[in-house]
Amino acid sequence: MKRYVVALTGASGMIYAREVLAYFGARPDLELHVIASAAARQVLALELDAALEDVLPAGARLHPETDFAAPLASGSFRAQGLVVVPCTMGTLGAIAQGQSLNLIHRAADVFLKERRPVILVVRETPLNLIHLRNMTAAAEAGAVIFPAMPSFYHRPENLTDLARNFAGRILDHLGLEHRLTHRWGEEG
Ligand SMILES: Cc1cc2nc3c(=O)[nH]c(=O)nc-3n(C[C@H](O)[C@H](O)[C@H](O)COP(=O)(O)O)c2cc1C
Repeated sequence: MKRYVVALTGASGMIYAREVLAYFGARPDLELHVIASAAARQVLALELDAALEDVLPAGARLHPETDFAAPLASGSFRAQGLVVVPCTMGTLGAIAQGQSLNLIHRAADVFLKERRPVILVVRETPLNLIHLRNMTAAAEAGAVIFPAMPSFYHRPENLTDLARNFAGRILDHLGLEHRLTHRWGEEG
């Protein structure tokens, strides 16, 4: 069974995480591991009036962010990809500098050393030089910097439509089949 890791951190944009998690909820053939920082839970409540458990798909394996004994803290754990959605500047910095202060940073560190896909859905505006340098460092180490920048050319009818389309672009980078994204030139 293919395995994926979705990590939530405390940036704005929980609607993207919700849609990515919903996709996995509809794919019981995929094994899903989830980590959430304390700040992620706080922003989930503020933005979506939701607890993590409300958006967690049935069957997902939730790991405490403090659990360095979790399987995904080891390179011997094989998985197809990790996405941090949304990704704070703090988590970006920790990953870029190889600081394994929690399980999210550690899992990203491990995935990068094992040359497995790491997608960082970074979110902040404007960006300072520290953010830009950390993005460069993470990209140089192999991460895909995937700014939380949804598209509008498909004319989203509401926020869910907008977020689903964007979630589909993340799934593209994990190599997952889906029908969430309006594909330019493929309509109809
Ligand atoms: C409502 C809210 C929105 C936030 N949005 C962002 C954001 O978009 N980007 C960011 O880097 N930090 C944002 N923060 C700050 C982070 O949550 C904070 O830096 C936290 O320490 C990050 O911890 P984490 O990376 O472990 O989740 C936000 C905080 C709150 C309460």
